[in-house]
Amino acid sequence: MVNVLVIGSGGREHALSWKLSQSSKVDKVFTAPGNGGTENNILIDINDLNALVEFAQKNNCFTIVGPEAPLAAGIVDKFTQMNLKIFGPSQKAAQLESSKIWAKNFMKRNGIQTAKFEIFDDPKKAEEYAKSLDYNVVVKADGLASGKGVIVCNNADEAIAAINTILVKKTFGDAGNRIIVEERIDGIEASYIALCDGMIAIPMASSQDHKRIFDDDKGPNTGGMGAYSPTPVIDDVLAEKIQNKIINKTIQSLKNEGIIFKGFLYAGVMIRDNEPYVLEYNARMGDPECQPITMRMDFDLYDYFVASVDGTLSMMPKITWKDQSAVCIVLASEGYPESYPQNEEITGFDLIPKNVMVFHAGTKKQDGKILSNGGRVLGVTALGDTLASAISNAYIAAEKISWSHKYYRKDIGKKGLSYL
Ligand code: AMP
Ligand code: GLY
Repeated sequence: MVNVLVIGSGGREHALSWKLSQSSKVDKVFTAPGNGGTENNILIDINDLNALVEFAQKNNCFTIVGPEAPLAAGIVDKFTQMNLKIFGPSQKAAQLESSKIWAKNFMKRNGIQTAKFEIFDDPKKAEEYAKSLDYNVVVKADGLASGKGVIVCNNADEAIAAINTILVKKTFGDAGNRIIVEERIDGIEASYIALCDGMIAIPMASSQDHKRIFDDDKGPNTGGMGAYSPTPVIDDVLAEKIQNKIINKTIQSLKNEGIIFKGFLYAGVMIRDNEPYVLEYNARMGDPECQPITMRMDFDLYDYFVASVDGTLSMMPKITWKDQSAVCIVLASEGYPESYPQNEEITGFDLIPKNVMVFHAGTKKQDGKILSNGGRVLGVTALGDTLASAISNAYIAAEKISWSHKYYRKDIGKKGLSYL
């Protein structure tokens, strides 16, 4: 039996901890720093790599990294040097996410389909390029900005404002020292995530996120307001295309450049005329995609994490998924992704049926109560025999949870239904 340390504090980490705790090989699951829903929380900051190393050594842990920041800071390289087992990509491999410019140039030189683009540090030149694309552009900060450094524009005013926000006003700090201006691709978006061991990539179940804050994909981008799995947007033919033209090609091209990718490789794809274009890479599981995907897993996730680290995925049995749909509704604090109230008591957990999971994100436990402690607060996740029944089960449960400034989208999964 081993101990596991999950690094992070979101809904994704709660879902991973929950799944890993079901493994017969796992003794204790620690979460650093965790949230109001995770057990055995360790109060170590995710960026305090020395303290995390020390904890993993002392407690004989196999470590799993949830979020991007410690990956970008080189946590996997550091643990590996110390002979500690850790699941996730190296700092070099994580550049796919930590520098959008690096990722775009990588795709360009390796012929991986993505929106056409240019890179700028001069706002005037950026504006000229945006004009040449009729201002149908997306403006992106180069560095990490919690999923918020991307502005989708529909006209000249929006494009010019976006360039100014990132490059001149520096709203995202140094992450916006350079920007990408790229062609806006109008199509259908989906998340394709694969588990990699440096040699092969096994696809996870398909999923679709809902990035905008309001119903019908209105309002600003967020970290994700809800997700479901599988998505009918990715049929078998398209899945094979994405696997070959994007995932396998990415892994192989990285290898050709001397970079081994282990961990979750996430391609955010836009599908236009049946062709997938990479909008972004993440070097980790998606949040909230992880919540419905995890609920559908019919295999011991711990075994596959070990195989990813050891490079033995090809020797593992084929993974299997519950033949059901899963839907996760994110309950947020009103005001997110801007400012929002915190420390509000949340009630209703006792009214949730046993087969529905309420994954915690921005919560904390205090005096036996659960308080809101972030923008995305909970992810109510339910299974159903059809997508429609999973949606209904998730919403019935979501309505039972209360706090003063609870906000959630009412249309999670609707895009999928319209496809069936
Ligand atoms: P990213 O973090 O790069 O995935 O961007 C966040 C969101 O912005 C994506 O999930 C899309 O909804 C949108 N987006 C990004 N790039 C494009 C693009 N080239 N065309 C249309 N939408 C985009
Ligand atoms: N849900 C999108 C992400 O994790 O980046």
